Amino acid sequence: MESSHVAIIGSGLIGRSWAMLFTAEGFKVKLYDIAQQQLTSALESIRKQMKELEESGFLKGSLSAEQQLSLISVCTDLKTAVEGATFIQECTPENLELKKKIFSQLDLIVGDKVILSSSTSCLLPSKLFTGLKHVKQCIVSHPVNPPYFVPLVEIVPHPETDPSTTERTYALMKKIGQSPVKLNRETEGFVLNRLQYAVISEAWRLVGEGIVSPTDLDLVMSDGLGMRYAFIGPLETMHLNAEGISNYCDRYREGMKLVLNTFGPVPEFSGEVQQKISQAMSEKIPAVPKALDARRKQRDDYLTGLAKLKKEMKSDLV
Ligand code: NAI
Repeated sequence: MESSHVAIIGSGLIGRSWAMLFTAEGFKVKLYDIAQQQLTSALESIRKQMKELEESGFLKGSLSAEQQLSLISVCTDLKTAVEGATFIQECTPENLELKKKIFSQLDLIVGDKVILSSSTSCLLPSKLFTGLKHVKQCIVSHPVNPPYFVPLVEIVPHPETDPSTTERTYALMKKIGQSPVKLNRETEGFVLNRLQYAVISEAWRLVGEGIVSPTDLDLVMSDGLGMRYAFIGPLETMHLNAEGISNYCDRYREGMKLVLNTFGPVPEFSGEVQQKISQAMSEKIPAVPKALDARRKQRDDYLTGLAKLKKEMKSDLV
């Protein structure tokens, strides 16, 4: 009988991050992929990241990088990967047919206790899990990139998911230091992407109408709204910007409705506006792998610093 572990299906960007988060908390992890080469490069990349994090003092957990690495094993046989697992986190490419196939394979080999969780960014649980024998044990746990420094996880149940599956997933996410939120039911885009798309849509419109330049638009978020959103959400912002929510609504209800009524239809995200935004972004960061990777690295460094600051300030205000 194998000792319990977490199985990770797919060893790409997100699978690697989950592996690091689980081992930081001392969980054994089995990493599964279809290609051995993928697993080899996943292990190399995890080792490199863990060593760098250890050197800079940002490695999570109380174990050393070597100790955490020793908790990870890899395999290309699905049955071996999931046998004895208490939690399975699927991290394969965002393709409904592929994910459905993997969950049907898992459905045939797992027992009645393990949780089957998907990292999907936008596929609804009803599309992924309907018809599975183990549907009660199925759930979406949607992380945010990079999960090691952005702790939010959206937990989205299928209508037939057992409440204990949701509770156990929530508790596990807490245990590994993530910040889970529970959706009571599924909705397109979950919550994070609905909020993100609302912002992107209005950003697109403002630039498209020539009201502000693309780079200034981004500054409104990074040096304006985003500053407080790193610590408090939009609803608490309302609460604090007046003498509580009710007072805010009394004061600003009509003004907000006036502005919101000027929002137009969903943009096409193409044509001239696309060209204009693409040109401005490419002047700042050329759209080639080297430049994009360098900026991504810088973004992750900023997020590391922010995560540290939030921890120091014990900013669990939420
Ligand atoms: P990725 O392309 O980096 O990795 C996918 C991995 O799955 C690869 O290692 C590939 O070899 C493996 N794979 C392909 N077919 C497989 C199969 N049949 N069985 C097992 N492994 C297989 O993708 P990434 O970015 O890690 O995304 C994984 C999931 O996480 C997707 O559903 C994505 O939507 C979601 N996600 C991604 C985020 C991101 O920013 N990249 C953020 C949040 C969620």
